[in-house]
Amino acid sequence: MFRTHTCGELTAKHLGKKVTLAGWVHRRRDHGGLIFIDLRDRYGLTQIVFNPAKSKELHDAAESLRGEYVIMVKGEVSSRPKGTENPKLKTGEVEIAASELTILNTAQTPPFEIDDEGQISEEMRFTYRFVDLRRKSSRDKLIIRHKVCHITRNFLESEGFIEVETPILTKSTPEGARDYLVPSRLNHGKFFALPQSPQLFKQILMVAGMDRYFQIAKCFRDEDLRADRQPEFTQLDIEMSFVDVDDVLGLTERLIKAIFKEGIGVELKTPFPRIKHNEAIERFGTDKPDTRFGMELADLTDTLKGSQFQTFEKVIAGGGIIKALNLKGKADISRSEIDGLTELAIKLGAKGLAYFKAGDGAVDCPIAKFFDEGRVMAMLKKMDASKGDIILAVADKKGTVNDVLAHLRVALAEKYSLIDKKRFDFVWVVEFPWFKYNDEEKRWEAEHHPFTAPYEEDIKFIETDPEKVRAKAYDMVLNGTEISSGSIRIHDRETQSKIFKAIGLSDEEIKSRFGFLLEAFSYGAPPHGGIAPGLDRLIAMMTGSESIRDVIAFPKTQKAVCFMTGAPSDVSEKQLKELGLTLKK
Ligand code: AMO
Ligand code: AMP
Repeated sequence: MFRTHTCGELTAKHLGKKVTLAGWVHRRRDHGGLIFIDLRDRYGLTQIVFNPAKSKELHDAAESLRGEYVIMVKGEVSSRPKGTENPKLKTGEVEIAASELTILNTAQTPPFEIDDEGQISEEMRFTYRFVDLRRKSSRDKLIIRHKVCHITRNFLESEGFIEVETPILTKSTPEGARDYLVPSRLNHGKFFALPQSPQLFKQILMVAGMDRYFQIAKCFRDEDLRADRQPEFTQLDIEMSFVDVDDVLGLTERLIKAIFKEGIGVELKTPFPRIKHNEAIERFGTDKPDTRFGMELADLTDTLKGSQFQTFEKVIAGGGIIKALNLKGKADISRSEIDGLTELAIKLGAKGLAYFKAGDGAVDCPIAKFFDEGRVMAMLKKMDASKGDIILAVADKKGTVNDVLAHLRVALAEKYSLIDKKRFDFVWVVEFPWFKYNDEEKRWEAEHHPFTAPYEEDIKFIETDPEKVRAKAYDMVLNGTEISSGSIRIHDRETQSKIFKAIGLSDEEIKSRFGFLLEAFSYGAPPHGGIAPGLDRLIAMMTGSESIRDVIAFPKTQKAVCFMTGAPSDVSEKQLKELGLTLKK
C-alpha cells in the first residue's frame, strides 16, 4: 500500500496513529539537525520530520531529497512543538515523525516554483502544464470545472434530461465558422468536418422523441482566436421538445443558479433581467452589455443637429448619428488623457472623439463655440450631466458609433475602476433580428443559424421587410461576455423554405447541406428549442480567470498550436498516400 491517508487529511484527531503518505517533495528545510519535508499531493501539504537522534541512516537518506522527488514515508502522527503550528494549513497542527522513507522517483529541477506567487509566462506554464497543474491556483480551476460538469449532470438528470453523445466525425454544421476537416482514407477526396456544435444532431434527437437531451460536448471551430476563444471548446449543449422561449430561459436560469451555488457558493437572483436586442444596442452599443456599471449611451443626433460644427453636420447629412456617454465627475482629466482616449476611439474605428466638459450651464472645449446655448443645455439635460462631468461623443455611421462607444465605455470603466469585480451580472438579450445584411455580398443572411424560428407575427415580413423579422433567439450575457446562446427552432416546412429562400440558399445547396435534417423533419418534428452555455467561458468567469486557456487542461496558443505536444505537426509520406493527398511545396 502506497498510502493510508492523503497529504491534506491528518489533524490532531489522528495523533499517535501510524500512517503512510506518498507525494512530492514540496520543500526541504534543514534546521538544527532536523530535516523538515513538506510533502504535497492534490489534497494538501503535510510536514514530515527526520530526526538524526532517532535514525542517522534515515536522516542521511532525507538529505538526498530534492524538490519534486516522489517519495513514500511511514511514521507516526505527532503534534508540532508549541508555537510552530501553522493555522493556514488544515494539517498545520501535526507533523509525521518519519520512521521509513522510500524514494519512488527522482525529478529534474522544475522550470518554475510550485507556488502561486511568481509571475510565470503562459508559454512556460502551458509547455510544462504537468508542473503548472501542481500549483494550487491552476489545479483548483480544473477542480471547479469538474464540479460544474458534475452539478450539470445531476441537475439535468433531475429534470428528466438524457445525455447522448453525437459524432465527432461528421458533416459541416451551420454555426458559420470555418470547419476543421479530416480526410477520409476509405473515400479519397472526401472529408469529414469536426462539429462546430451538435446543433443538427440535437434537433434530430427531438424528432426521434428523446424529448430532453443534453451533452457536455466538444465543439471545433477554425476561427481567429482571442482570450475567450479556443479552436476546441466545450458546450453544455441542451435541447428540449414542446417548449417556447420562457421554458428554455427558465431551465437555463435554474441550471446556472445551481452551478453558482454548489460550485462556488454564490447565490444568484433569478429571473435574470431581459433586454431586447435593439434596446441593448441603443443603451450599450452592443448585444453583450456589461451591466455592472452605468455610463449608458445616449443619442444626441436630434439634440445637436443644425449646429455650426461642420464635422457633425456632414455626418448627419450622410445618414450617420451622434451618440455620447457621460464620464461622471472626470471633467478635470488632463489634455493628454483626452488625447489618449481620442487615440483609442480612432483605433476602434472612429474619426475623432469630441468632448464637452460640463460647467455651470455651459461647456468648455475647443468646439464649444460651434454650439449655441439651447443645444448645449439640451445636451447636458439629455446626458444627465452636471458640473464636473465630461461628455464624450462620436459621430459616424450607426454601426461604427455603437461599436466605438461600447468599447470605450468598458475601457473607461476599467481605467477609472468603476466596476465592482465581485459582481456577477447576468442579463438575457432577447428578440434578436433574424436577418443581417451582408454588405459585401449584397444579400440577407441569418444572424444565428437558419433553423432559428421567427416570431409568428413577423413571418409576414420575411419576403417584404426582412429587417423587421425578430428571431426567437436569446443570449445569456455575464459581465459583458456572451456565455450562452440558443433559440427556438423552426419545425414546419413552410416557414423553413421561406427562410431558406430569403437567405438565397438554392435547392441544391439546401439538399446537400441539410438534406438529412429536412428529411428527418418530414417524419413529424415536434416544436423544440435549446441553448448551449459555453463551459470554458463560464468557468473562466467563475474563477476570475483572464483567459479561457486557464480553465482548459491542455489549451492551444493564439495560433492554434498545442504548447505541450507541438501539434499540429508533419505526417509521413505513407500517411498522406493512404489518404490520397499530396502536399504542395
Ligand atoms: P454559439 O455558436 O453561440 O451557439 O455557441 C454557444 C456558446 O459557446 C461558446 N463559444 C465558445 N467558447 C470558446 N471558444 C469558442 N471558439 C467559442 N465559440 C462559442 C460561447 C457561446 O455563447 N448550436 C448553437 C447553440 C444553440 O442554438 O442551441 C451554438 O453553438 O459561450
Ligand atoms: P476637427 O474639427 O477635426 O479639428 O475636430 C475637432 C474635435 O472633434 C476633435 O476633438 C476631434 O477629435 C473631434 N471629432 C472629429 N471628427 C469627429 C467625429 N466623427 N466624431 C466625434 N468627434 C469628432
